[in-house]
Amino acid sequence: MIDKEFLMIPGPTPLPPRVVAAMTNPMINHRGPKFKKIFLESVDILKKILNTDDELYMFGSSGSGAMELAVQNFSLRGDKVLVVDTGFFGQRFYEICLSFGRDPIRLKVPWGKSADVDEIVNVLQEEKDIKTVFITHNETSTGIINDIEKICKKIKETRDILIVVDAVSSIGISEINMKDWDIDVVVAASQKGLMSPPGIGMVALNKKALNFALNNKVDSYYFSIKELKKRFDVGEPFTTFPVSVMFGLREALDLLMEEGLQNIYKRHENFKYLVRESLKITNLRFLANDEDSSPCVTAVLSPDNINGEDFVKRIREKYNIELAGMFGDLKGKGFRIGHMGFMNSNDLLVTIAGIECALKDFNYEFNFGEATKKFLELRRELEV
Ligand SMILES: Cc1ncc(COP(=O)(O)O)c(C=O)c1O
Repeated sequence: MIDKEFLMIPGPTPLPPRVVAAMTNPMINHRGPKFKKIFLESVDILKKILNTDDELYMFGSSGSGAMELAVQNFSLRGDKVLVVDTGFFGQRFYEICLSFGRDPIRLKVPWGKSADVDEIVNVLQEEKDIKTVFITHNETSTGIINDIEKICKKIKETRDILIVVDAVSSIGISEINMKDWDIDVVVAASQKGLMSPPGIGMVALNKKALNFALNNKVDSYYFSIKELKKRFDVGEPFTTFPVSVMFGLREALDLLMEEGLQNIYKRHENFKYLVRESLKITNLRFLANDEDSSPCVTAVLSPDNINGEDFVKRIREKYNIELAGMFGDLKGKGFRIGHMGFMNSNDLLVTIAGIECALKDFNYEFNFGEATKKFLELRRELEV
């Protein structure tokens, strides 16, 4: 088959042609007026996406760097903190906390389930000296989404502590409302819902979180809020910036605004519905139930006699569709379909049809073609 790849992984996501074109601009001075304009315009749009009027800083990093920044700036060495661990990326928060000498309490939620707000509150009531809560919005490893609005509001009713939300795989996909949901800090990255290449990390923080970071000792220099703020106050990045990625992100943010945030969120909800409802016909099982499941990625359990890694390899090599495998204990047990960012229902149609073909190649017993047919029917109903 001619080498035209369908990138259906949960990040990095496909790039719109306008974003690719923007990145071919010649290099410019990252402290000059041209850069300042696109940099500050991008900050404003990102603040709109997160509904915050407070600070937002960008820096050269992947999402994990932004997570590390959050641990370093919004908790202190020796502090008891709560990590709500709903999967691989919750576990990463826990490991970062350990690396930097925090005393993390880990609320481990079974993989494939969303966090239960009452369980979080119980921990906070038992452990009165917890200073900060770290939680993932959308857990990309298991395909669940946490009800961050409910969780944050309830935490703040229980105790006024700092809440840090990892929105790496929800920004530009699902609503995040810092002001109305009482979120103190959001960390995110450029390469998923923001339809840009990897390379830019970001942190949005309210006044309470800013005061905490400015008035306490921070474990990092590169990721120090104090250093970031000094430069941002004059409209500049702290260190040399990934300028080409910035060109791309600036263009992508225009595209997001042109589509409109509510339309984007609806589009991703529709994608989740289309993928799940059509694949249900094949009797494949999902890791998450309908209620907990994520609008950006669907984790599918492979049948007992099909290794998930082999399935991912087959669909890549035979059908040019790039899916993702599973993590940790679930490695080999299934595959994940990313359905986020620059994508429309045509991409999903190819993917569902490709999955059916690969299942057939492994002699899985099902009504071949029925999932694709269901997909087409639902697509017509939804008009997407
Ligand atoms: C929810 C979540 N958090 C954090 C990360 C880590 O981001 P990165 O791989 O860019 O370091 C990811 C990456 O997939 C993610 O999905």
